[in-house]
Amino acid sequence: MEKLAPFHWLLPIASVNQLRLGVNIDHVATLRQARYATMPESKNAEPDPIAIAGICERAGAHGITAHLRADRRHIQDRDIQRLRESIMTKLNLELGNTPEIVDIALRIVPDEVCLVPEKRQEVTTEGGLDLVANKKELVTTVKRFHAAGVRVSMFIDPILEQIDTAAELGADIVELHTGKLANAFTDKIAQQELERLRAAAHGAAELKMQVNAGHGINYRNMALIHKIPHLVELNIGHSIVARSVFVGFETAVREMLALMENYKG
Ligand code: PXP
Repeated sequence: MEKLAPFHWLLPIASVNQLRLGVNIDHVATLRQARYATMPESKNAEPDPIAIAGICERAGAHGITAHLRADRRHIQDRDIQRLRESIMTKLNLELGNTPEIVDIALRIVPDEVCLVPEKRQEVTTEGGLDLVANKKELVTTVKRFHAAGVRVSMFIDPILEQIDTAAELGADIVELHTGKLANAFTDKIAQQELERLRAAAHGAAELKMQVNAGHGINYRNMALIHKIPHLVELNIGHSIVARSVFVGFETAVREMLALMENYKG
């Protein structure tokens, strides 16, 4: 079998300025759990997030993202194991910095982890991880992932102090929280948030970190995302899953990729 270079999935960046897409498949598991939470191993348990991950990859997605939450509300431990075994692009595992989940991640060895805050009551991740407040606990976690050869991303609000702290902690990637931009009720708020995102992206690029973005990105607000410089990858979940109900997953991914073309960086 052909031997792939380490981080072979990074190679396309060198040749094409294509904004990459990581598809977050959590909500495929949410749908399965709505009916099969008590028997996810049942032969009837559907839809299977791992099968969907394969469809995303065939449609051109550059990676698959999944969040193993402490309450296991959507993705299950076995899903992560199966994703690790089947994914051909790269696996980005989102996780809160808790000993149980970090230990699981270190056993699975995803290509990347994205550290996120996690509150049990929230519907989805609601804000960026406060690196300044959690610096002490994060130092060891980052070291452990790096020792295992796993790249570390940090999901943060677009605040320069957070960017500086990510660099100090040795983050390889920052994922900028675009939720406030996506949900801005007025053009003025959207413009202010865009300026914060632009400044944060510049700051992170200057500190030699890869800049990703995620949360609330959809088919309608992608034009705003193009105004943020230095982006390498977008992680998108809800809107692709929602669109797939109408057009199927493959088309939903292809349509999103088409909107991501011609990014000027
Ligand atoms: N990035 C992070 C860190 C997230 O927590 C989520 C939501 O799970 C996403 C991206 C995807 O957000 P959305 O589902 O709004 O596209």
